[in-house]
Amino acid sequence: MTGHGQAWPLTLADYAELARARLGPAVWDFVEGGAGAERTLAANVAAFEHVRLRPRVLTGLGLPHTKTEILGRVWDAPIGIAPMAYHTLAHPEGEVATARAGAPLVVSTFAGRTFEDIAAAASAPLWLQVYCFRDRTTTRRLVERAEAAGFEALVLTADAPRLGRRVRDLRNGFLLPSGVAPANLTGTGFSSPGGHAAAEFDAALDWSVVAWLRSISSLPVLVKGVLTASDAVLAREAGAGGVVVSNHGGRQLDRAPATFDVLPEIAAALGGGCAVLLDGGVRRGADVLACLALGADAVLLGRPVLHGLAAGGSDGVAGVLGIVTDELTEAMLLTGVPAPRDAGPALLTTASPAA
Ligand code: FNR
Repeated sequence: MTGHGQAWPLTLADYAELARARLGPAVWDFVEGGAGAERTLAANVAAFEHVRLRPRVLTGLGLPHTKTEILGRVWDAPIGIAPMAYHTLAHPEGEVATARAGAPLVVSTFAGRTFEDIAAAASAPLWLQVYCFRDRTTTRRLVERAEAAGFEALVLTADAPRLGRRVRDLRNGFLLPSGVAPANLTGTGFSSPGGHAAAEFDAALDWSVVAWLRSISSLPVLVKGVLTASDAVLAREAGAGGVVVSNHGGRQLDRAPATFDVLPEIAAALGGGCAVLLDGGVRRGADVLACLALGADAVLLGRPVLHGLAAGGSDGVAGVLGIVTDELTEAMLLTGVPAPRDAGPALLTTASPAA
């Protein structure tokens, strides 16, 4: 903190710095790391580097608004929170503090707090991220419990038949610290996230799992981890109400493409009627606007939310979301975009790589 100017933190990078100082090195590596040589992790952020926005001036439009409708619910901004395991690694209150920040939240199968406690703290839509276990009864119970707690959608993670090879965690011999455990799964004695996945995830899922999820619940199903137009179409044909364009934040297939780079083909293939969300590398409001321009209905923020949580609990999460929303509002105002749905591809141009 300095004595002059606006209070710090001012950017998501500031929050990351604060979080790094608070989290132990092994937890920091678990949060930050990716699979393999971390090429996809880096590519997600790099894909936004050469985007440039073409401003329209003297539009007479006045201040923009960021409200948008997703699956029949109005979100204050097209920005939600990506599912991440164990928010209790970042803060003792875990997902309860995250939910209290007031943004739409996708709660992980491996949440550190119970669905009921999270729901009691939430004021915005909650969705359940589903890892489908070989024991379908376990999955069904999770879904039923979340639905009973008021969750509004299921997000099937399709890119993780097992967890990616995360070298940082292997080097650190990362194990969950005591007190951090999956609060909604009973009888699991695993302290290594990868070991748990290898033992219990169903690695042989096919598209029929979407119909199965719809048969056990009345909630819409989104498929997370879609990176090609072909799979987006298959998701819709299987009955999904939406897709999350995601490479799991670079934590699964290293060398998977950056999500921003494949967004146009997926949005074009779906052509409306199916919600399109994106996560991976979104760190600025202008990144959000670029995603909207290329056909996303909303984005999900991952690691920056855990940074906010580590830095300042619920207020820190609200701080992170507030920064990105303010930046988005400013970018909309300066480009002449009155509402999220008005952003289109004409907004974008590409800087030369040297710029
Ligand atoms: C994740 N992610 C994830 N995804 C999922 O479907 N289920 C999960 O339990 C988790 N857990 C998880 C833990 C941690 C620590 C991280 C960083 C990520 C992936 C997550 O939903 C999302 O795809 C990426 O994090 C988005 O990228 P950014 O915003 O972190 O770059």
